[in-house]
Amino acid sequence: MIKIAPSILSADFANLERDIQRVSSADYLHVDVMDGAFVPNITIGVPVVKSIRACTDMLLDVHLMVEKPVRYVEAFARAGADMLSVHLEADHPTRIAEALRIMDDCGVKKAVALRPITKAEAVLPYIDQLDLVLVMTVEPGFGGQAFMDSQLDTIRKVRAIIESRNPACELEVDGGIAPGTAPLVAGAGANVLVAGSAVYGAADIPAAIAALRGAV
Ligand code: DX5
Ligand code: ZN
Repeated sequence: MIKIAPSILSADFANLERDIQRVSSADYLHVDVMDGAFVPNITIGVPVVKSIRACTDMLLDVHLMVEKPVRYVEAFARAGADMLSVHLEADHPTRIAEALRIMDDCGVKKAVALRPITKAEAVLPYIDQLDLVLVMTVEPGFGGQAFMDSQLDTIRKVRAIIESRNPACELEVDGGIAPGTAPLVAGAGANVLVAGSAVYGAADIPAAIAALRGAV
């Protein structure tokens, strides 16, 4: 079954609670944390995640676009994240493994994220223990960018790895997902679709979420 994860990056941060309630028909709430170093943009941090936790029961899918994310895993877990994704490019493999160990200790779901430049095979050392792999379909950093068709191949390869090693693991895609691109990524094997501008830019948000599901 396809799941939709609206990204609050495209919400109105001055009306965040209202904009979170507006996407309550979706499956996960995608929260983009950016540090101004791993990516050029700066967004939100631990206190905001804590406040979001207090106003929704949706699964909080926290996408850490930060350097050396191992430093922050425990804090985001304590703030109420249900799942944390760390970028494989953000630290040495031993510290990515350490970040996953801390997630285990904290009882949160474990995910790794891949920038477009990163090959599908990079998930191999971690795949057996993951709940989700996040494949970026734009360069991380900003909402509203154009979908990169070249990532369909990576999605297919990650799906094949998941099927052979850990079929329960989910495959999420993030960036440029709209009714036109949703069938492409679903056809390539994605089952969780992040969407920021396609959801929050719509006049009728529940209809936009339904349209993304229906497009697949
Ligand atoms: C980009 C973020 C995305 C972003 C997606 O770095 O990780 O989650 O919000 O926005 P859209 O759906 O507008 O491409
Ligand atoms: Zn994201």
